Amino acid sequence: MDNGLKALRQWIDKLRESQGFRNFNDLYEKDAESAVLGEGSFGKVFKAKIKGTGEFVAVKHIDKSAMDRFEMQLQITEIELLKVIGSHPHIIRLIDVLEDDKHFYVVLEYLDGRDLFEYMNRNFMNELKAKKIIYSVFRAVKYLHSFGIVHRDIKLENIVMTSRDNQQALPKLIDFGLSKIFLTDEKSSDKFGTIAYCPPEILLGREHMSSADIWSMGICLHVVLTNRVPFVSLDKKQTVKNIVEQKLNFNQAGWYRISNQAKDLVGRMLDKNPDTRPSIETVLGHEWLLAASQLANPQVTKSGVSQGYTQDAAAPNGQTVPSSQQQPIQAAGQLIAVSPSGQR
Ligand SMILES: Nc1ncnc2c1ncn2[C@@H]1O[C@H](COP(=O)(O)OP(=O)(O)O)[C@@H](O)[C@H]1O
Ligand SMILES: [Mg+2]
Repeated sequence: MDNGLKALRQWIDKLRESQGFRNFNDLYEKDAESAVLGEGSFGKVFKAKIKGTGEFVAVKHIDKSAMDRFEMQLQITEIELLKVIGSHPHIIRLIDVLEDDKHFYVVLEYLDGRDLFEYMNRNFMNELKAKKIIYSVFRAVKYLHSFGIVHRDIKLENIVMTSRDNQQALPKLIDFGLSKIFLTDEKSSDKFGTIAYCPPEILLGREHMSSADIWSMGICLHVVLTNRVPFVSLDKKQTVKNIVEQKLNFNQAGWYRISNQAKDLVGRMLDKNPDTRPSIETVLGHEWLLAASQLANPQVTKSGVSQGYTQDAAAPNGQTVPSSQQQPIQAAGQLIAVSPSGQR
């Protein structure tokens, strides 16, 4: 580049900088392997590096043109929430947000362990380990609910593990794209989410509130304990009918080695009536989880990243299921995704 052109470039960059404009490609570069970490409704999540430091980040690259007004509102809510809630050790930390006329670039801390869905298909799971992971997620939800924030899309794919190292891996809650802030006693009748994780009241188009998250966490707990997503059928209508009407069956495969305390908690969380479903405080006080507070007590560091669990004892009954003997869980990803405008 000749000197005149170089000076012009520098002048343009200074001018842009003074106006607060920052170009994504000036600050970040896609990882050489360009790994796509996940595909969402409005774009991809890919791995990138901060230029200069080389630190890895995950970038949620969102195409604004694919969104209607309501969806844009949800996206902006996600970004604004991430700005204030990311100091919890089990909630994803926002690093930066950039925007141009066509895209948002939501830059997040990079988590190397993949989501809990994939993690479960790769790693050993037993009751104690399930308890440690789920306990951490429940603490994150307690934190959210204490601010009136309801996540509304808790599922295995939205819980990402910090590390591939089985001993170090900790869960973090991600994807606040459907989250809503509920003011005192407020209820919502918005209808969206992922069917398999949706409580009956949402499927029936009734009002919902924070108890909707308790149901979704009950489904997550069911899956990590038994490797099975309850109520799900190949037919969408049948799935909805099962969620609304079918009784939970603890005689099904997957439950036989699980403690009665764990079954009791799952049964309470999957109460079809949101009014009698327990609050997150009650869930955390359940006898199955009480001991977990001693097992999982990660230290919060400056960056909000916590230390891994140091122990990984066998299940209470001493049995561990090798991943090779576990049935891979099936994605249960049918979306309701009905926004007020009727579609997503
Ligand atoms: N910070 C991150 N580190 C690693 N992987 C991530 C991160 N954020 C998201 N992912 C992956 O990308 C997928 C989609 O991200 P998500 O925020 O859930 O987007 P969407 O709203 O489109 O579902 C996740 O299920 C996960 O596998
Ligand atoms: Mg998601």
